[in-house]
Amino acid sequence: MASPNVSALFFDYFSLQSCLIFGVSFLVIYQVFTREKPVKLPPGPTCLPLIGNVHRLGGRQMHIVTANMSEKFGGIMHINLAGMKAVLLTDLQIIREAFLDKTDRFSDRFRIRLGEYIWGTKGSLIYENGNGWKSHRRATLRALRNFGMGKRSLENKINEEARCLARSFEDENGHPFNPQPTVQNAVANVICSISLGSRYDYDDPEFRSLLDYIKVFMSERSGPSLLSVFPKLWFTPFYKSLRKQSVKCISFLRGVVEQHKATFDSNDIRDIIDVHLQGNDEEGGSDEKLPQSLIWRGLFDLFAAGTDTTSNTMLWGILLLTQYPRVQEKVQQEIDDVIGRERPPTLPDRLHLPYVDATLMEIQRFRPVACFVPPRAASVDTELLGYSIQKGTNVWINLYAVLHSPEHWKDPEEFIPERFLTADGKKTETPEAFIPFGLGRRICIGEQLARMELFLLMTNLLQRFTFEIPKEDPKPNLAGKHGITLSPGRFRICAVNR
Ligand code: HEM
Repeated sequence: MASPNVSALFFDYFSLQSCLIFGVSFLVIYQVFTREKPVKLPPGPTCLPLIGNVHRLGGRQMHIVTANMSEKFGGIMHINLAGMKAVLLTDLQIIREAFLDKTDRFSDRFRIRLGEYIWGTKGSLIYENGNGWKSHRRATLRALRNFGMGKRSLENKINEEARCLARSFEDENGHPFNPQPTVQNAVANVICSISLGSRYDYDDPEFRSLLDYIKVFMSERSGPSLLSVFPKLWFTPFYKSLRKQSVKCISFLRGVVEQHKATFDSNDIRDIIDVHLQGNDEEGGSDEKLPQSLIWRGLFDLFAAGTDTTSNTMLWGILLLTQYPRVQEKVQQEIDDVIGRERPPTLPDRLHLPYVDATLMEIQRFRPVACFVPPRAASVDTELLGYSIQKGTNVWINLYAVLHSPEHWKDPEEFIPERFLTADGKKTETPEAFIPFGLGRRICIGEQLARMELFLLMTNLLQRFTFEIPKEDPKPNLAGKHGITLSPGRFRICAVNR
């Protein structure tokens, strides 16, 4: 007997119709399981080809323009930076959800290509991620504390620097001058004495040119420029002189590390360089050591982040006091009552100087120098407020928007130190929305140091001088210029002896 034909049997059993039903169902199920999930992006402005939304971000006033955009799009927005997708957060509760509640997913930094071209990111405190960054941050924080951050041992050093700064103001004999170079030098000396072990005279030409380089980069040439959108322009002849200055800055720092290696003594740890030379694993033993060839890179971050932010805050303070003479008088009166004009201020004095403290806080709220934190990145595909945030997305937060939000501050565009005082005026209080140093795992490591410097330097200066804008100068512009930091631009003052 002939064996039955297999295909005939198959078609006897399954009709053509049932085969079709089976095939279509298979395809539908396959599609459902293999289809990419729809990405629900936050709302945002429509983009132009090539440049995306760059033209709408407000240039040097981008902190204000992007804060205002949130009125239309809400506290979480999707923006396109010449093809690079980014999420911009302006609302305090969304920022807290991302950086505090979901800190594991939003604590990486976004790799900025321009930064990689100029200084590299290996060994960077600001731009590295992962275990290397964690160890480096821990070691640096420990070293900052050992060298006096938040302690009275550093108080004397800062007071000494304040005396030098006051002497240089005194030398102007009440005539108009630009306070920027000396204030920047004084602030840089504090971080240099902790990290490099030395301070530099205000007329040292080599150090001056380094400080000018930092200022150009952080306040003037950076920010929303063609260079930041098309970083490869860095290699064109247009940037030749800045490239040369970058090389000079890097070799200065490398040179200081080499000098330290030559004189290193493990029984006499002089500064942060020595801490790294000694190795940073003495506590716990699990920390990754920073290779000696990369020590300069972390120093550069401390130097740049520690100098430009604090000196611009000092400059905003001086400028604002000239515009709000009633506040300046009240600050001076409180200093006269509590410390007098002879003895230098101490850290414990701060507790008895609530109006001084409140004024320093209001300066940081009114003109926050770090309007945007260095961009973070989502480390995994995640979700925020129901929106999809894909791994690697560039996450911006606009601190200026939080510090000027009418939701958190009454009359936010007014300069009112009293907003930080308790009802009886005897203490300061810190509202949840006061976040000029950022928040979460990557919060500023120099916060305590900056707060010490601002208090001691300002108090020393206001013991001796009243600041005024020269009569012949125009009324200063209080808008400022946004680069990486928000700086007040160039202005002159008279420091009148009290
Ligand atoms: C008024 C002065 C200062 C302001 C307003 C300021 C503000 C900030 C802000 C907003 C961030 C980003 C935080 C975040 O991502 O959430 C930051 C990070 C940082 N700051 Fe400051 N800063 C100041 C002074 C300093 C000083 C004096 C130092 C040096 C000791 C310093 C070193 C750093 C470093 C290294 C980071 C990166 C931290 C990390 O990524 O882990 N800053 N700062």
